[in-house]
Amino acid sequence: MKFTITENAHDNQNSKRQLRARIIASYGGIIRLYAFVRFKIIHLRFLEEIEQYLPNTGTILDLGCGFGLFSLYMAACKPHAHIIGLDINARRLQIARASARQLGINNASFVQQDLRWWRPDQTISGAYALDIFHHLPIENGNRLLNDLFARLEPGGRFLLKDIDTLPRPMLWFTYLLDALMSPRDNFNYRSAGAWQRQLAAVGFAPIYLHYLWDILPYPHILLICDKPR
Ligand SMILES: C[S@@+](CC[C@H](N)C(=O)[O-])C[C@H]1O[C@@H](n2cnc3c(N)ncnc32)[C@H](O)[C@@H]1O
Repeated sequence: MKFTITENAHDNQNSKRQLRARIIASYGGIIRLYAFVRFKIIHLRFLEEIEQYLPNTGTILDLGCGFGLFSLYMAACKPHAHIIGLDINARRLQIARASARQLGINNASFVQQDLRWWRPDQTISGAYALDIFHHLPIENGNRLLNDLFARLEPGGRFLLKDIDTLPRPMLWFTYLLDALMSPRDNFNYRSAGAWQRQLAAVGFAPIYLHYLWDILPYPHILLICDKPR
């Protein structure tokens, strides 16, 4: 059965909880547990914040989408947009496609790409990256930011959710979990200030920095970046 979000603001919270539950249930085995934990870390309050800053139409990229949890969430919340999830991991993408089919979500697609080298070749209205840029070497990440900026339409928006380097104990906590989940990756964390400088150098303006406080000890940051009109 196709799942879309009701337009009625009163029912919105409930529908989103149901949506989250249905997305989690669409995965099997250990991935279901992962989805449950990931939705605890990137919980509904964060997602609603991210969602409200993204356009409602056009092509929106989910960079490093993994199993596609949040691509599917955004696709259900934004039925007039098309979400393209990109990830290097073919198995994760296969699982994402199977979940999309099971949920009847057909405005999300999943494409295997190595973001270290990938160049967008179409105009995009928005893009977001949830905890992916610290998996990329700094130079490749900066190159990707430039290419994204070039392909974003004027007024388009890029949301970067990543991890600050302070407070240090929170960074170590994040590092331990990253190392557990992706033992073969190197991690290139950057401070909130370094991100702001880099994004400004690319041409984004204005850039807003939000700290997303959590009961879990993650130093989450969200950068909301506009391409000037
Ligand atoms: C921490 S997970 C985040 C997944 C998803 N954004 C989420 O929030 O659940 C990082 C993802 O980055 C992907 N990744 C790492 N290096 C990549 C690369 N060079 N190109 C594309 N994806 C990459 C991994 O396969 C993994 O799915």
